[in-house]
Amino acid sequence: MASAPHAGQWYVAAQSRALPPGHTLVKTVAEQEVVFWRPQTVGAQVQAASAVCPHWGGPLGEGAVESDGRLTCPWHGWQFHNGACVTRPGLKLPRYLAYDDGLFLWVRLPWDVADMTEPPLQARPTPSKSFAFHLIIESDVYHVQENYLDFLHPSEYHTTVFNHCRHLGREGDVHLVELGYKMPFGRSLLTRTRIWAPTPYQIRNEVYAGLGRGTVIESHITPISAHRSVIHEAYHVPAQNVPRFGWPFMRYFMQRSARRIRDEDAIFAARRYQLRQRGFVDGRGLPIAGQVAPYEDEWMQSEDGQQTAQKLEGLVGKTASSHW
Ligand code: FES
Ligand SMILES: [Fe+2]
Repeated sequence: MASAPHAGQWYVAAQSRALPPGHTLVKTVAEQEVVFWRPQTVGAQVQAASAVCPHWGGPLGEGAVESDGRLTCPWHGWQFHNGACVTRPGLKLPRYLAYDDGLFLWVRLPWDVADMTEPPLQARPTPSKSFAFHLIIESDVYHVQENYLDFLHPSEYHTTVFNHCRHLGREGDVHLVELGYKMPFGRSLLTRTRIWAPTPYQIRNEVYAGLGRGTVIESHITPISAHRSVIHEAYHVPAQNVPRFGWPFMRYFMQRSARRIRDEDAIFAARRYQLRQRGFVDGRGLPIAGQVAPYEDEWMQSEDGQQTAQKLEGLVGKTASSHW
């Protein structure tokens, strides 16, 4: 199941804090080398463009950010501003829409979606305490999302963290799931969450009852290439749920558990993606000599299956000849 990288969409490329004023940041998004830069000027917007200089291909990510927002190529010093080459007028640098939502840097790859000028931001509780992290997964975005939307896997797969999982129903596209955090003596701390995919590249969790009520988890899946994805994930805890001076402690334990779960998910999605690439079919396994095994009922109905059944039937009551 080969898949092409996505295009024409808004993607979360990095955390905002990875790009201080006066600096550049290069990220590969859907196989495009994108350079972000943030002019020194207070309040200046983040800029994004192809990181490949249109002259001889110089690495614009290693270029200097001028105070007025121009970007200078390190190879021959050509300067770019607002998508145009200042040094050689007429030469264009492919420019992308960029947006800084205060936590994440977004980029919109330009082709095939003309109307999406705003990134699909997720609402965040305010005031809240937040943390974010990312991890890279050797899988296409579909298998990452498949894993996120496989609602019953936590208590079967993340067994060090969860010991209970129940799908309570759905409201349209929103799934209601009850999870039990593992406690000593076989007990659980219950939490109920709404989970859905606001866009094909996002998952949202809203904890609406039990432990961590009001917490929001926004997950953004960005294709780096057809075979590799990155997840940027942010946790927002409403400020009223954070004890005074308790945030560093809470954050430490939440992040540790979140990372552990996501590292396990990364292994899961990557293995499934890689097996699918080799022809794996759910319930049938990997192909042998180009063929996957049939399901049991298909086998029973097939000619081979019928013949085998008849042969076994014919053995009833018979005695084998002995060579003793
Ligand atoms: S390669 Fe960028 S100026 Fe020559
Ligand atoms: Fe998981």
